[in-house]
Amino acid sequence: MYRIGDEEIKAVERVIRSRQLFRFSENASEVKNFEMELAEKIGTKYSLAVTGGTGALICALVGIGAGPGDEVIVPAYTFMATALAILAVGAIPVIAEIDDSLTIDPEDVEKKISKYTKAIIPVNMLGLPSNMDKIMEIAKRYNLKVIEDCCQADGGSYKGKRLGSIGDAGAFSFNYFKIITAGEGGALVTNDETIYERALIYHDGGTAFRAHSGALKTPIFVGSQLRSNEIAGAILREQLKKLDDILKDLRRVKKAFMGCFEGEKNIKFIRSNDIEGDCGTTVGFLFDSEAEARKFAASEGVNGTVLVDSKKHVYFDWEPIMNKRGSHHPALDPFKLPQNKDLNMNYSIDMCPKTTDILSRTVVVGMNPDWTEADIMARAEACIKAVKYS
Ligand SMILES: Cc1ncc(COP(=O)(O)O)c(C=O)c1O
Repeated sequence: MYRIGDEEIKAVERVIRSRQLFRFSENASEVKNFEMELAEKIGTKYSLAVTGGTGALICALVGIGAGPGDEVIVPAYTFMATALAILAVGAIPVIAEIDDSLTIDPEDVEKKISKYTKAIIPVNMLGLPSNMDKIMEIAKRYNLKVIEDCCQADGGSYKGKRLGSIGDAGAFSFNYFKIITAGEGGALVTNDETIYERALIYHDGGTAFRAHSGALKTPIFVGSQLRSNEIAGAILREQLKKLDDILKDLRRVKKAFMGCFEGEKNIKFIRSNDIEGDCGTTVGFLFDSEAEARKFAASEGVNGTVLVDSKKHVYFDWEPIMNKRGSHHPALDPFKLPQNKDLNMNYSIDMCPKTTDILSRTVVVGMNPDWTEADIMARAEACIKAVKYS
């Protein structure tokens, strides 16, 4: 989906010629500038580039102080990494249903809140915005933190605000499959100084001796190593310049594609919490039965995926979590920690029937920002034919 070319080649050349590959070198500026440009685009005070979306989620969780004794609510439909990040900080993921927008169901979130709940992580899957008004209202009522997982929604928005700028922190991924990419990469955004400082310390275990650490208000604690580098920073600066044009084209293609189905009474699309803010990367068709969905997805020219088949994106395929293997070492395993013994870790394959039902009846078709009118028509015609003859 991403667009990459001469601009990125020149940017990489610039870094290699400078011989400044380390982001904290005295004369290095690529990662620092990328962070400033990303924060400006998303509309937050702070941004921190890291090695990936999982790292950004971990930094956000460290930022809000999540750990043993805490439950964090995640949707049953998300890439497993969202839940793994929670375990990485010693907390327990509590799994909530999604609704027909394919994002977390606010009603079920409220049902899953307990005295141990620390935070909610709404995930903007497939570039689709979550119901942020409702989630923020619930979070406020129960005094919970909100971390937006925007790893599949770089640059998307909700009611005019960029995703990632609405909750306490946002996490982005720039891995190979994302809207913009450096092969791997990620970033945290936040308006909260403490979250930023804690994330900064955690992402660079050796931060104590860096020049910037003198100004930190947060005492240094032990962290890890999730730093970005100048080559990734230089590529991502070029990628960021392209982001809004890609989104514009994706949204144009999606609108034109969906427009082809006007008057087709047998076609139902998934509900959107904000179609204007949707990244436009996919179109979701909702069927009455799994059999209809499967027949449609397999029809010639449709090239669709029945979402229940999307492996590590569906809770019952999160194998290490379903089997409660939460760490490399038993003494560090959040599922075995005494602080977590009363927490909700009752996972089972049939625990989210609403999610399983919706995902088994939903087929997504990927959009391409470079499709011509003829490409759009051809794919839409194949889909209309598939519905008529299925
Ligand atoms: C929803 C979601 N969250 C988190 C991640 C993790 O991102 P990364 O692979 O950059 O660590 C991904 C990556 O695919 C994702 O799709």
